[in-house]
Amino acid sequence: MRQTIQPAVVGATGYAGFELARLLVRHPHAKKPVLFTRNGEAGTTAKLDELYPHVSGNGGYPLEPFRWETLRAKGVNVLFLATPHEVSREWVPEAVAQGVHVIDLSGAWRLETPEYRAIYDFKDENPVLADKIMAQAVYGIPELHRTELKQAALVANAGCYATSIILALVPLVRAGLVDLNHGIVCDSKSGVSGAGRATGEGFDFVSVNENLRPYAVTGHKHIAEMEQELSAAAGAPVRVSFVPHLVPVTRGLLATCSAPLAGAASTEELLELFRHRYKEEPFIRVLGPGQLPATKGVTGTNVAEVTVRADARTGRAIAFCAIDNLGKGAAGQAVQNANLMLGFDETTALDTAGLAP
Ligand SMILES: NC(=O)c1ccc[n+]([C@@H]2O[C@H](COP(=O)([O-])OP(=O)(O)OC[C@H]3O[C@@H](n4cnc5c(N)ncnc54)[C@H](OP(=O)(O)O)[C@@H]3O)[C@@H](O)[C@H]2O)c1
Repeated sequence: MRQTIQPAVVGATGYAGFELARLLVRHPHAKKPVLFTRNGEAGTTAKLDELYPHVSGNGGYPLEPFRWETLRAKGVNVLFLATPHEVSREWVPEAVAQGVHVIDLSGAWRLETPEYRAIYDFKDENPVLADKIMAQAVYGIPELHRTELKQAALVANAGCYATSIILALVPLVRAGLVDLNHGIVCDSKSGVSGAGRATGEGFDFVSVNENLRPYAVTGHKHIAEMEQELSAAAGAPVRVSFVPHLVPVTRGLLATCSAPLAGAASTEELLELFRHRYKEEPFIRVLGPGQLPATKGVTGTNVAEVTVRADARTGRAIAFCAIDNLGKGAAGQAVQNANLMLGFDETTALDTAGLAP
């Protein structure tokens, strides 16, 4: 096990990158993180606490324009990329070549098959190299891939919607309880920070406040991740009908998934399956028959709250999952993955309770 690491975050001015910085400054095995932002945008003198004053008080965190030379000069050995998909797609091969551990929060390296990868429309300069890198990437949900993550050099941190839906459905599909020939339907609500800091029209206060709206109906990019991972768990192709909604909260994501049952099952039987599947998991809270997940209970944490009900009238299971999109949906899960890669206890720097009420 390493005693200390030198982490760096690229995209530290963004929502996911800042959440990473917030967690890493308290990581007992990490030196002060090196924080990068877009080339030239911030300049070398800007500090993270000028942008986010609530992290100040520890001497400041300089923001540096990203340079490979700076990475080497500072002895960075763990690199978190909280950058747009295209940037991660371009930079990860070089980062892997430099021998640093890489945790990429974008969608650039999550999808195994070319058919799924096509949805991102990447124009790789060197497709052979890209395929080689892809073969090394481990999909970053510890509850599914803990053993591979411990050996990984590159983690493709899972998407926020995908994390919540996979965690809600995986116990059911893995146990063969879902009739895969009749549709799984998932509805999710996400807070506005899920869209990142650099949002455009439609994300201003007036558009979002006191408003609810669906988007990316039938075409959200995370569907491919959900189907990839759920198909692997089921051992057969799984198709998901998914509709995300934007809701006027800052953080939080709630998934409600309706899946046709292959046979009769009671709520208590399904709950027992969830309790058994997640009994060793430090960040999965299985709620009993009297409770339903809510985003407030997981805000600021790496916890996923899950539960399930049998709907005897329709023969379906209704599974739920609430996460913080910036926690278990992004930075929290990235730190959990990094802890596993580096041989630390996977809960290190993540042991916080939710902010409710
Ligand atoms: N927000 C979430 O809930 C969430 C959840 C899961 C995964 N993710 C993924 O995490 C990544 C970051 O998302 P976000 O929501 O944090 O976005 P964001 O708030 O818009 O931040 C994007 C960050 O990337 C930096 N950046 C943009 N172009 C760059 C370039 N060419 N070179 C270097 N840095 C560049 C920006 O720097 P400047 O400020 O200098 O422009 C900023 O720090 C995305 O891939 C996203 O899909 C986000």
